[in-house]
Amino acid sequence: MAKQKLIRFAALSSLANVRQEPDGLRGRWAADFFHNDHPLILELGCGRGDYAVALAQGHPEINVLGLDIKGPRLWVGATRALELQLGNAGFVRTAIEQIETFFAPGEIAAIWITFPDPHPPAGRRKKRLTSPRFLAIYRSLLQPGGLIHLKTDDEGLYYYTLLTLRDEGAELLADLPDLYTGASNPDLTGIQTAYERRHLQEGKSIKYICFRFPTAG
Ligand SMILES: C[S@@+](CC[C@H](N)C(=O)[O-])C[C@H]1O[C@@H](n2cnc3c(N)ncnc32)[C@H](O)[C@@H]1O
Repeated sequence: MAKQKLIRFAALSSLANVRQEPDGLRGRWAADFFHNDHPLILELGCGRGDYAVALAQGHPEINVLGLDIKGPRLWVGATRALELQLGNAGFVRTAIEQIETFFAPGEIAAIWITFPDPHPPAGRRKKRLTSPRFLAIYRSLLQPGGLIHLKTDDEGLYYYTLLTLRDEGAELLADLPDLYTGASNPDLTGIQTAYERRHLQEGKSIKYICFRFPTAG
């Protein structure tokens, strides 16, 4: 690891808005971490936390947690949130595969998946954050009717996700193959992550999918 990454990794544990262990917060994030009763939104694979920070900044009525396995990237977002004195933004360093140890069933109001790694070869598809095993985890943690939002530049991941959602019985609420030709929602186009800005500069179209799982009965 380069020197700067090592320093940021070490500094992560001293940041008040970062957790790397559940620390008894499972089922109690709103009350014991954010000290309110606001809905909890996750950004999965948040990298430097661009989306999490901007979403929290624009919506004081919600709590936002950015999750990523890479500590030095999280450090950037967590430090920025502290500089902005955002009491409704936090960060968790974890593999997404482990999030059931951090959150209780029904604790999450909505999930954002922003520019996840596409993992193209067939053998790696189970690592995709929209593969069936991940969808099952999200389903268990979301409140009934909780929305999942995906933004990606990757065509393979986009079509894979649409097929997987059909197979898994999810309800597709929005499917925009080129977000910037039609959308006007500021949460969709007004917040751009580092990867999104790079893809747009390269002339790629940004795809957006929103879905939920049907509730029983
Ligand atoms: C392509 S980057 C996108 C970062 C950010 N969302 C953005 O749009 O700028 C994907 C991020 O997902 C994280 N990631 C991928 N798979 C993960 C997993 N299974 N658990 C935790 N983080 C993961 C990576 O560490 C990386 O920071």
